[in-house]
Amino acid sequence: MFENKFYQDLAVLSVNTAKLRNYYIPFPTMEAAFLAKDRQESENFLLLDGQWAFEFYASIHEIPVAFSEIPNTSLSKTIPVPSCIQNYGYDAHQYVNVSFPIPYDPPYTPYDNPCGIYRRHFELGEISERDYYLNFEGVDSNLYLWVNNQFVGYDQVTHSNSEFDVTPYLHEGTNEITVLVMKWCAGTYFEDQDKFRTTGITRSVYLVQRVKDCLWEYKIETPINPTSQTGVLHFRTPYQGEIHYLLFDLNGVKIDEGAASREFIIKVSNCAYWSAEIPNLYTFVMEVNGEYISEKIGFREFTIKDRILYLNGQPIKLYGVNHHDSHPELGPSMLKEDYRIDMLKMKQLNMNGIRTAHYPKSPEFYELADEIGFYVISEADIESHGVVNLFGESADYNLMARDEMFGEIIENRIIRSIIPFQNRASVFMWSMQNESGYGVNYEKAQKMVRKLDTTRLIHNERAAEPDLSRMNDFSNLDVISRMYASFSDVARYCEGNFDKPFIQCEYSHAMGNGPGDLADYFELMEKYPSYIGGFVWEWADHAMYLTDEFGRRVLGYGGDFGETLHDGNFCVDGLLFPDRSITSNALEYRNIHSPIQLKKVEGERVTLRNIQSFLTGAAFLGELSIHINGEKTGVIPIDLSRISPLSEQEIIFERPVVSVYDDVTINFVLKNQEGEVIGHQQKILQESQIRVPDILINEIEERNLIQVKQKQSCYILAGESFSYTFDARTGCFTQLKVAGEELLVAPSYIHLWRAPIDNDRYNMNNWRQAGYETNQWNLISFAITEKSAKVQIKGHYRLGKPGIQNILDMHIVITISLSGTIQYHFDVEKGINLPDLPRFGIVFPLKKLFDKVNYLGYGPYDSYVDKHHASHFGKYQQEISEMFENYLKPQENGNHWKTIEASVLGPVACQIRSSKSFNFSFLPYSATELTQAPHSYDLPISSAHHLSIDYKQNGIGSASCGHYLKEKYRFSEQKFQWDFSLSFLENQVMI
Ligand code: GAL
Ligand code: MG
Repeated sequence: MFENKFYQDLAVLSVNTAKLRNYYIPFPTMEAAFLAKDRQESENFLLLDGQWAFEFYASIHEIPVAFSEIPNTSLSKTIPVPSCIQNYGYDAHQYVNVSFPIPYDPPYTPYDNPCGIYRRHFELGEISERDYYLNFEGVDSNLYLWVNNQFVGYDQVTHSNSEFDVTPYLHEGTNEITVLVMKWCAGTYFEDQDKFRTTGITRSVYLVQRVKDCLWEYKIETPINPTSQTGVLHFRTPYQGEIHYLLFDLNGVKIDEGAASREFIIKVSNCAYWSAEIPNLYTFVMEVNGEYISEKIGFREFTIKDRILYLNGQPIKLYGVNHHDSHPELGPSMLKEDYRIDMLKMKQLNMNGIRTAHYPKSPEFYELADEIGFYVISEADIESHGVVNLFGESADYNLMARDEMFGEIIENRIIRSIIPFQNRASVFMWSMQNESGYGVNYEKAQKMVRKLDTTRLIHNERAAEPDLSRMNDFSNLDVISRMYASFSDVARYCEGNFDKPFIQCEYSHAMGNGPGDLADYFELMEKYPSYIGGFVWEWADHAMYLTDEFGRRVLGYGGDFGETLHDGNFCVDGLLFPDRSITSNALEYRNIHSPIQLKKVEGERVTLRNIQSFLTGAAFLGELSIHINGEKTGVIPIDLSRISPLSEQEIIFERPVVSVYDDVTINFVLKNQEGEVIGHQQKILQESQIRVPDILINEIEERNLIQVKQKQSCYILAGESFSYTFDARTGCFTQLKVAGEELLVAPSYIHLWRAPIDNDRYNMNNWRQAGYETNQWNLISFAITEKSAKVQIKGHYRLGKPGIQNILDMHIVITISLSGTIQYHFDVEKGINLPDLPRFGIVFPLKKLFDKVNYLGYGPYDSYVDKHHASHFGKYQQEISEMFENYLKPQENGNHWKTIEASVLGPVACQIRSSKSFNFSFLPYSATELTQAPHSYDLPISSAHHLSIDYKQNGIGSASCGHYLKEKYRFSEQKFQWDFSLSFLENQVMI
């Protein structure tokens, strides 16, 4: 029996931990402190990451010894630190979103609480006249610590540093650390975040050596005065002794030096302020008793006035993203370099903000955010979302927010999320929690935070869920924050009589193929000064490796690890794939948020707008180009240096002479100094007036008549170079033979179904019930007429499903010309009271010899009515492999919106045209195959290359977590007419 009770005692938050302090690493010399790029360069720092001895127990009660004997257990395995045990074959992964993973019974945890014992040794030279502090930057969910056989202390709060003064326990020579980590503790009720639930020493461990009587905690604030371009370094500490300090400017030139104690200020003239755009950092070095601490100082001041967010006196907007610590290899254990990779990618995608969803990061994250430049909402390690899933009337969002029994825990978690990072320039707002309701516990905590830090804003999104039984106090909140607010709600907040700016701590749910609403939210940010920005949910997909039944190492999501309580692929909802490869969704974000915007074109006047608050356009290279029918004609390099922050510039260009048949666009490409494209925007200057389907009716030559033969319901139509088999029952061709080659692997078919994208998850059942996936055609009447140079088929069809009203009523007219061109004309009426259609079109399952496509439309990435900014109208030539986006959960992808013309190339070229623009995709899988495969690696071997020619598709949206599509993006027409033609050209032509 495991006799210690700390882990399920609400009153035990920490045992014998050192007093909380701001994060820093001490150095032994001035030079080292000043020059170090990494904390490992400090001789006072001993990193204890690496292989530790390890033993796993499925239950704490299986530990074979008494609690006090735990340091003496023998451990037979090893495990890397940091990591989570589930990645090394112990316990099992579980992905769950809202529900608590254990019965709701705080502070108790299940009797069989899985746990691991960790041990490692390290050498110490002569024990100096120093103090030694052992730091754990994050242990999931708690830790019991022994050093050299003696019990040192206990701590919890997974995403928080635990620091222990281990001086009395250490000796010269080999020292031993033993740590017991449990899967659950009382803290579990506060860590119900939507993620894989992991266990272990998940962040770095290190020992720091300190001088006796050291500077422990200090706070630096940086009030500024933009009018005089000055800044003040305001230093405060409870430490009584003398502090020698030096301040260096951006170039490392010493600008001040002195000695003081307790509280002092240093004035900086000509101060270079910090912002995410220009992350200027001064270096401030403090010396106390021979110990040197270096701080990077960003002089900056965030303020709110008239519901607008200002930084250093300039209005700013937050173009942000939510970032979880999640990685397919490392699980929750992201190291500094992994953070750096993510941040550099965010910069390339024009993001300037990060919300640390839903817990504080390890300290190096904040240092990088200061250095690379981000506005950070730092969130406390609190989420008690599971209270909404209690049974019946017990479900109560505000349960834990209101119950004063939890007040101290909440306050403690919030303080622990603030003090360590209180000197970081990048943090502009403290977030109290995520999805834990609202109530007195938060009101008290907010009051406390207000006193603790007067320089930053306070955020609590769940003020959206006020306790209606009482008057709620929002006075210590600085913003109205909502997640997934609809467009109309955004407008309501911004136009309403509120006294706080509006922010979306989460919006645009980037799950699977999506989001489709980024451009519309951006438009609202442009429109309303009080809409200060938003943070997309979320940065990257969460997925973990597993070995499947075929022995393959593949990525899994909820339910793939044998867990019964899980939320499936709801964790696969990032802009980036788990390995951080970029998707078209991320590029959609990038182009919409281009720092210099192509605002409008009027006549020969282009207006560019710099949406940055501090950088002029000089930081970028710009290029305007005119494209006629997708071909670039003229390039105009643009000198952007004159566009000041938040202002516009007009450029005059010469409109080309074109005919009414031409499609003309103007494209604006923005590159950074390294020449990388960071924005691409386009405006349509002219859409062609006439689009004629290529039906060649003039080829009248008596001897070339089309032969028509009937075989039951099928008709064989043969010309000089073709033979088509048409099935009157389906209105489709079952085979197309051109130049002796059969082109189809299976009959063509008319479809309404798209492999549901994640945003279709709430529509999908309706769609299925309405017969959009499986249905049957009924032929009402049919006629075929042969004329001298063409054959015309007329069919009247109904689409039905047993038990429900007609889905569609459709008249088709198909004309086949002597040259073999097929022209389809559709006249369609949808049955009444049916949902929006996923799509309407026709699929040709082509032989795989067709493997390339040329098109004039929106590419090169997939494009939809509401998601097409990664792409542009232009002329593209692509391989079929480039047309497919390999989502971990397969779904509709690869559509090309507003296509004017496309040619699929194989043994012959199939050319598609229409009198209107159309949609098409060319994919190695059918919609059925994509629908049925739970993972990308479950897709069958491709048997055909599916050319899908569509009149329309429903929009993409963000409805997996958010509102349904705007009216204008819905495929809700009751009646429509459409045509397209298909011509076969024996010599492959490039359009
Ligand atoms: C929010 C929540 C996130 C995540 C998201 C859905 O409600 O804060 O943690 O669950 O929804 O993916
Ligand atoms: Mg949640």
